[in-house]
Amino acid sequence: MAGWNDRWRTGNNVFDLDHKQLSTLLDLLEDSLGMLPDSTFPDMLAHRLVREAREHFRREENYLRLHPTPQTAGHVAMHEAFADKLDRLVARIEANDGAGARDLIVEAQRMFVDELLPADSEMMATLAARIAVAH
Ligand SMILES: [Fe+2]
Ligand SMILES: [Fe+2]
Repeated sequence: MAGWNDRWRTGNNVFDLDHKQLSTLLDLLEDSLGMLPDSTFPDMLAHRLVREAREHFRREENYLRLHPTPQTAGHVAMHEAFADKLDRLVARIEANDGAGARDLIVEAQRMFVDELLPADSEMMATLAARIAVAH
């Protein structure tokens, strides 16, 4: 993935900063596997990515519980599928399987851009429409 793209903004600045950080951590992890595969960087970055992703999902799910949409259950399930993928990624890195880790990074990046970010944009658009109707 070639870095953050401002078209991915959802309209919620907290979530957007979280997303930018997650996208950057995925990129840094990918770079570290290419540039310093035998160092402690990949493991350190992978654990940081897992921690930040969990924090982000917790923040978003608190918000979704306060403002449920018809897509909330599917949205939370998607977060869980992504978190599972990151756990498998950490396991590959801990097993020193750089090629396996890189495959999972590509899958995680694709899922982030094609599924997670559109779901978040849809969530924010649904809530914005609800607010517009209420006024
Ligand atoms: Fe989300
Ligand atoms: Fe998100």
